[in-house]
Amino acid sequence: MFESLTLAPADPILGLTELFQQEPNPRKVNLGVGVYKNAAGGTPVLAAVQEAERRLLDQSTSKTYLPIAGHPQFGAHIQTLLFGAGHRVVRSNRARTAHTPGGTGALRVTADFLHRHSPASKLWLSDPTWENHRAVFAGAGVETALYPYYDAATRSLDFSGMLAALGAASPGDAVLLHACCHNPTGIDPEPEQWEQLAALLAERSLLPLLDFAYQGFGHGLEEDAAGLRTVVRHCPELIVCSSYSKNFGLYNERVGAMTLVAASAEAAERAFSNVKPVIRTNYSNPPAHGAAVVSLILDDPDLRQRWEGELTAMRTRIRAMREQFVAGLARHGVNRDFSFITRQNGMFSFSGLGRGQVQALRDRFGIYIVGSGRINVAGMTEGNMDYLCEAIAAVL
Ligand code: LMR
Repeated sequence: MFESLTLAPADPILGLTELFQQEPNPRKVNLGVGVYKNAAGGTPVLAAVQEAERRLLDQSTSKTYLPIAGHPQFGAHIQTLLFGAGHRVVRSNRARTAHTPGGTGALRVTADFLHRHSPASKLWLSDPTWENHRAVFAGAGVETALYPYYDAATRSLDFSGMLAALGAASPGDAVLLHACCHNPTGIDPEPEQWEQLAALLAERSLLPLLDFAYQGFGHGLEEDAAGLRTVVRHCPELIVCSSYSKNFGLYNERVGAMTLVAASAEAAERAFSNVKPVIRTNYSNPPAHGAAVVSLILDDPDLRQRWEGELTAMRTRIRAMREQFVAGLARHGVNRDFSFITRQNGMFSFSGLGRGQVQALRDRFGIYIVGSGRINVAGMTEGNMDYLCEAIAAVL
């Protein structure tokens, strides 16, 4: 069997990291995968996480299995982060959360769940979207379609195109929205646009599926949840796939959540009972450590305060890198207006660099960015900024 297999293409994001590791250029910079770097160029464990891990080590008495839906207190904490303290969907027991291995695990559980229980529905994805979205859903057998999102000419949201496409979607279709910090464009709908979008989803009976991987990386924990909370106000049913890789720096612990909101507590109970077999037949039950860390931090006022401080520092630093990047390009004689980069949210910047320029950055300078032109701004540092701007000026 193996003899007949052809070579699969490398992953467009994680495959770059593999190539980067073999790159001989001593000045190489990896701005491909979305990983945050501090001023020293490292991705250290957050102090709040380290303290939580110390306490967990002292308290830990068993490594027995978690339930299928994961860590028992994690779900309640996640629902508070997503919807806000005391939200009516939580009070009325309409929300159920499964703790999953990363945000990708949450997406895959959702994909299998949709395929099993709504096989005729399509999933609408933004054009462009995270490189892995289509593959995760198509891999589970879910048909996907694209709605317009990015207007390259104005470097802004193509809101009328988005509304027109979603207005023509069939009732029962699912629509994936990035709750904040759209990956890869960094462009999010304005509050008023969220209202219109949510009203349209409700009116057309479309199922909102919010991918929420960057809560706290845009404007703040509460501010970044505003779009989701608008959708909850309009739509009786929705699914949220959230990730704690970035905002807790827990990348390799794989901690995420799939939360469903149903129109009633009874429907939530029935729907969630159908999520459990999806998990059981996939990875059985999730790994415990990451969710235990997140739960402990969210449970303990002191750790929570420390974590929020560290999250604010990451967000502020990314904004500063955006400013320095735009100023650096101008200093290196780039005439093109790159000020849009300071208006984008989250880790990424959709730079507008073409495939040829992306390749030239790699070949000539050892600078790795995703083929779409997506740059991980959170991977820039004071130390690599000048080299980076000089290289981009050269390939432009
Ligand atoms: C990214 O978009 O770079 C991150 O979400 C990491 C990944 O798994 O692709």
